[in-house]
Amino acid sequence: MPPATDAVIAALAALRAEIETCTGCDLHETRNRAVPGEGDPASDLMFVGEAPGYHEDQQGRPFVGQAGKLLEQLLASIGLTREQVFIVNVLKSRPPNNRDPRPDEIAACQPYLWRQIELIRPKVICTLGNHATKLLTGSPAGITRVHGQPQATVIGGVELSLYPIFHPAAALYTPAMLTTLKEDFLRLPELLAHAAPGAAPSKGASPAEDAAPAPADEATPAPADEATPAPADEATPAPADQAAPAAADPPVADPPAPAAPGKAEQLGLF
Ligand code: URA
Repeated sequence: MPPATDAVIAALAALRAEIETCTGCDLHETRNRAVPGEGDPASDLMFVGEAPGYHEDQQGRPFVGQAGKLLEQLLASIGLTREQVFIVNVLKSRPPNNRDPRPDEIAACQPYLWRQIELIRPKVICTLGNHATKLLTGSPAGITRVHGQPQATVIGGVELSLYPIFHPAAALYTPAMLTTLKEDFLRLPELLAHAAPGAAPSKGASPAEDAAPAPADEATPAPADEATPAPADEATPAPADQAAPAAADPPVADPPAPAAPGKAEQLGLF
């Protein structure tokens, strides 16, 4: 894996600055800090989460709360550190009270993600949970149905393998999901070894798809998806899920409710 070129490093720095000052949606009014993403720009492996939570919004870094700790443990299980991969989110700014990203927010942020993919040119993108998975696959099929199944695709001119897995924050709520997440994670090394050897011909400047990334239009989530999650996604009917419904449509970051400590708070998630 050759190091990233100076051109890529400079382009990512410029993109970071753009994201940090972005006013493309209303979330800039309520965020403390934007969270552009971080990691090794030469990595073959990229993780795409949903959106910053409380801690990420405070620090301007992705996955620094409890979900991030789990992600680091999962990475350690395959011999990697967070510094060796690249970690980003669909949304670069925290939605108030960690509500779900809205379609208009996803659409406003999507060009940043596509540009990151074009620059980093990963061989494998691990999508964490429903929002990242639906956006990058361009399909309404939810994470419960598609987790652990690699899908070959092209994004921003980059041939790569999408690998949807449960969101670590969701797995913190549900032991069965955690078991599945760990199993899915252990398949990553093999996937990386075999994924699109020609996927990243160079880590140089990006090809010409800035203006019209192929999956973008299809991927813009239909309001129906947001409002009515596919039944299959919701079909993990553990009692714990019923108690914390957000966990079934794998939630992400931080909890809204300071007044009534919920399960997530008991877990120290927030
Ligand atoms: N959940 C996410 O999806 N992203 C983060 O950065 C943290 C929690």
